[in-house]
Amino acid sequence: MWVIVLISCVALITVILKYVFFSSGPDPFEKDSREPLKPMVHDKKELNKVLKQGFLASKVPENLDAIVIGSGIGGLGVAVLLAKVGKKVLVLEQHDRAGGCCHTFTEKGFEFDVGIHYIGDLLDHKPFRCMLDQMTNGQLQWEPLENPFDQVLLGPPENRRRYPIYSGRNRFPEELKKCFPGEEKAIDEYMRLAKKTGRGIWFLALLKLCPVPLAKFLIYTGLVKHLSFFFKMASRSLTDVVNELTENKDLRAVFTYIFGTYGNMPKDASFAMHSLLVTHYLNGAWYPKGGAAQIAYHMIPIIEKAGGAVLVRAPVNRILFNSAKEAYGGTAFLALWHWAETHGGDTFTAFAFMLSGVSVLKGQEEIHVHAPMVISNAGIFNTYESLLPKELQALPDIQNQLSMVKHGEGGLSIFIGLNGSKEELGLKADNYWIFTENNYDELVEKYMNGEREESSRKIPLLFVASPSAKDPTWEQRSPGKSTLSLVSFANYAWFEEWKDGKVTNRGPDYKDLKQGFIDSALEVVLDAFPKITRDKIEYIDAGTPITNTHYIGAPKGEIYGIDHGVARFSPELSSTIRPQTPLKNLYLTGQDVFLCGFAGALAGALTCGSVILNRNLHLDAIALAKRTKHLNNKLKGE
Ligand SMILES: Cc1cc2nc3c(=O)[nH]c(=O)nc-3n(C[C@H](O)[C@H](O)[C@H](O)COP(=O)(O)OP(=O)(O)OC[C@H]3O[C@@H](n4cnc5c(N)ncnc54)[C@H](O)[C@@H]3O)c2cc1C
Ligand SMILES: *[C@@H]1O[C@H](CO)[C@@H](O)[C@H](O)[C@H]1NC(C)=O
Repeated sequence: MWVIVLISCVALITVILKYVFFSSGPDPFEKDSREPLKPMVHDKKELNKVLKQGFLASKVPENLDAIVIGSGIGGLGVAVLLAKVGKKVLVLEQHDRAGGCCHTFTEKGFEFDVGIHYIGDLLDHKPFRCMLDQMTNGQLQWEPLENPFDQVLLGPPENRRRYPIYSGRNRFPEELKKCFPGEEKAIDEYMRLAKKTGRGIWFLALLKLCPVPLAKFLIYTGLVKHLSFFFKMASRSLTDVVNELTENKDLRAVFTYIFGTYGNMPKDASFAMHSLLVTHYLNGAWYPKGGAAQIAYHMIPIIEKAGGAVLVRAPVNRILFNSAKEAYGGTAFLALWHWAETHGGDTFTAFAFMLSGVSVLKGQEEIHVHAPMVISNAGIFNTYESLLPKELQALPDIQNQLSMVKHGEGGLSIFIGLNGSKEELGLKADNYWIFTENNYDELVEKYMNGEREESSRKIPLLFVASPSAKDPTWEQRSPGKSTLSLVSFANYAWFEEWKDGKVTNRGPDYKDLKQGFIDSALEVVLDAFPKITRDKIEYIDAGTPITNTHYIGAPKGEIYGIDHGVARFSPELSSTIRPQTPLKNLYLTGQDVFLCGFAGALAGALTCGSVILNRNLHLDAIALAKRTKHLNNKLKGE
């Protein structure tokens, strides 16, 4: 008996290891592609030559290897990985500039970021940093934030408590202990749980990369939860875990404040997701030097060098399939086709359609672009519900995936341009998380489910940061000016009635509603930043969920793509939603296929690239980190 168990265990481990270490395709990280640092380009015209190349049929390269729909970090990321092994890739973006959540825009002379405020895990020599260096040929630089990088503000102005959050494996808990004497045990236990859970992230990648039968075996035998602390904790809510640790309401709030970076209130959030964010910022927080536009600016040339292109104003309106009926019109085939159709074979339906490319909508005209492979960065809902032909959308495997996911919360952004330097306005390279009280679950629930006018009068949580203060090149680019970026959540339904209006003019009622949110947010800011006064404000406007639909293609105004609640972290969903779709040669990349956030969406690209190139690129990135560390040490003469 025991011999059999032992043999099965060894066999299972061997099979798992095989899928962890699979590697038969070319390695995009094979050689160190970092080049000596070139002078940074700030000139808008120069940047736009790269970021704003408009779609024209004549600009489409011939003999494409793949088409990527969407130019977010998930789309550009996988395009760069493929380009590095010589593949010719076309990236198509619906907006008028490349970058997705990494794009920037300028109003009244102020440059604003959309979705990049701070990114963690970027210490030199860490795999994530090494990989990013390779993907930007060593040209993208990262500027560390202050330490403390986050400030948590709890309560009304007259009774506001302020808790600074420091990075550093030791410093983070030590500083918390200074704020909460007597809570040492709770803080240590919180750290232990977060670190142990966060470390298990590799199992998520394994479930997405291993063959489906192996994943099913691991899930249905319950082995997933035995082998992985990540999945063990994934089904527990954040509220549940922290309530067991302490009775102190402010400490519970400080343990959970970072839920804003994935968008589920603590009672719905998975402790696994939360632990990833806590560990993400444990070694520090960074901002891209020169602003977020530098990210896409340094990735696009790598795609072009391999013969590919990144074209904007290129909304894909459908993915094209040749029906095999047309492709193989033989009589025997048609008889078989007829038989399958009348017997309702779903596998047959999937097989009978051969992917052939995409259609781009130019005004009223459809322009067809062909390639043997299509990779979608547009998110799972857009891809399955808007871009597939009806017959394929109806496939049980597609419907099954759609039934597992739901739209995440809508985002609200407020952009403020200020007259004054960071010194004059008292702005630093850090972030503020401002809450009206410490009971987040009730606060957020009441706000999101409330009447829109009422909710607009009191925003219970507000993220406030100054992108200009984080960027050391800002002063030279816009002397004497500053920016503030505010982020919160908003219910898509509040704004839905205006979704079909013109983006620049949705009418006075929409404007009034927006103004309500702006006014109440501004009150919070003026109170928390005493050096900022109304006369300093030169520009202020807000983006609502329907703004997100327009500029980043988020179908329900989602701030972070599909919902990241507990259900997202079931092992079943984790293994079912993977880069391969039920349709041959159609792949998914970006935040929906892995996790949200810059790092999460890039992990989506790496996972997608792994499947296409048939090797574990996560491990390649780790190997690369080891090699470059060795190389750098040698250069330094160690
Ligand atoms: C306000 C805000 C603040 C954030 N702050 C941070 C932060 O500080 N740190 C962090 O790590 N993360 C942050 N994030 C999250 C992070 O930016 C995203 O999770 C990540 O960038 C998503 O990348 P992606 O490639 O998956 O998707 P996206 O960047 O959304 O890219 C998808 C692209 O597909 C395009 N597209 C969609 N449909 C079509 C179509 N039919 N045809 C052509 N193109 C199409 C869209 O226009 C878009 O450009 C923030 C997000 C937001 C919105
Ligand atoms: C900005 O502030 C300076 C001095 O505080 C003032 O002279 C200038 O007119 C202001 N500019 C604008 C556009 O308000």
